[in-house]
Amino acid sequence: MSETALQYDAERFVVIVAESFKRHGFKVVQPPAGSRSHDLELVKGDHKYAVVLKNHKAKCNVAQLEKFLDFLDAPGSERFEAGWFISTSGFSKPAITHAETLQSPRLVLWTHLGKEMHRTYPPILTSTPHQAQHSRIARQKYFGIFTCKGGVGKTTIAAHLAGAFALMGYDVVLLDLDPEKNLRKLFMHGPGDEAPSLYVPSKSKGQPGSTITVLNHDEWEPSHYRDMQIIICDCSPVLEQNPSSLVELFDYCVVPTTLTPLGIAKNADVITRTFRHIRQMNKHAGLFALINGYDPSEALAKKNEKLLKHLSSHLSAYIRTDPLSRFIHPEDAVIRFSTTLQYWGFHLIDGSKPTLAFSEQRGKNHPRTDFLQLADYLEGHTEIEELRKG
Ligand SMILES: Nc1ncnc2c1ncn2[C@@H]1O[C@H](COP(=O)(O)OP(=O)(O)OP(=O)(O)O)[C@@H](O)[C@H]1O
Ligand SMILES: [Mg+2]
Repeated sequence: MSETALQYDAERFVVIVAESFKRHGFKVVQPPAGSRSHDLELVKGDHKYAVVLKNHKAKCNVAQLEKFLDFLDAPGSERFEAGWFISTSGFSKPAITHAETLQSPRLVLWTHLGKEMHRTYPPILTSTPHQAQHSRIARQKYFGIFTCKGGVGKTTIAAHLAGAFALMGYDVVLLDLDPEKNLRKLFMHGPGDEAPSLYVPSKSKGQPGSTITVLNHDEWEPSHYRDMQIIICDCSPVLEQNPSSLVELFDYCVVPTTLTPLGIAKNADVITRTFRHIRQMNKHAGLFALINGYDPSEALAKKNEKLLKHLSSHLSAYIRTDPLSRFIHPEDAVIRFSTTLQYWGFHLIDGSKPTLAFSEQRGKNHPRTDFLQLADYLEGHTEIEELRKG
């Protein structure tokens, strides 16, 4: 067998990969005739990717990556958002180290095994097993919602992310870590309600719904809630006020911020400060910075673009040093400004039943769409999917 003939011949491999991308909603385009830099171009909406396919016996090496990176940096390649390097035999250790050292935001490495593709770089954020004061149930993942700044939407996001995960079929516990707040009150069905919870019907017809159980941190006893898959912690903006035994358990942390000049330019380091702060107490959590209260209107497009550029270049200095941290670009997931969210909690005033801000208004509901997209993004970048029911 020659070096190149492995599972399929090269042409058949291109067809197999192209078909699988088509099934995932990509338009597949052949590169210009005579092009030797890449094998396929993929288009989805405004996103374009250049794809190189290797079906060699040997693992892909640094030189092959370098050649592809040169192509991505060459004039004309700006039209590609990223380059995907797909190999059936994986990548050599030096090649992976090379990708990790360069931290190029435009390079993605995939390993194609049988019918499945696994992302090799950037790595899917994973957490290392670890001991903490609170006993831990193996099939539970903890999310902390934390920014060391008040009023950026932590409570709003904790509650509605819990709602989105419940819609997707997870049973969720929402924990209030903030000693000064009363998240429980927002979910109580009356003054004497000892066990506030919310039933969320399933997104898919015929499937059972899920529950959100709301507890104060001192009521949390993991062994009493073995069937719950996701624990979402609404934190105090003062990290030290949150019980360290729970902060140490976070598998992932969502760090909300607003995309406003005062939120970013004046306090540009709020997120990096938050990231550093969490790292002092927790070495293993995946950290995600998320924009909340976003206004995508056309009139603000130029300003938003500048603010985003400023924020991402500021964050990249930290992110380069911490491979478990990332910035969620608004194109991937963002929580838009919405009056439905702004007025969420009105039931505390008018005495109506607690709900999430997910009900439809004239057939549309931005918060529900945004939070489902966020939950979907998090499912794709964490290790929670295997916990989902059914
Ligand atoms: N996407 C959004 N659109 C509109 N209003 C929002 C949005 N997110 C949050 N808000 C509003 O902003 C205010 C602050 O939100 P929230 O209480 O969730 O912040 P927080 O970070 O938990 O605050 P604290 O630090 O005091 O605990 C609330 O009035 C909430 O309704
Ligand atoms: Mg709060």
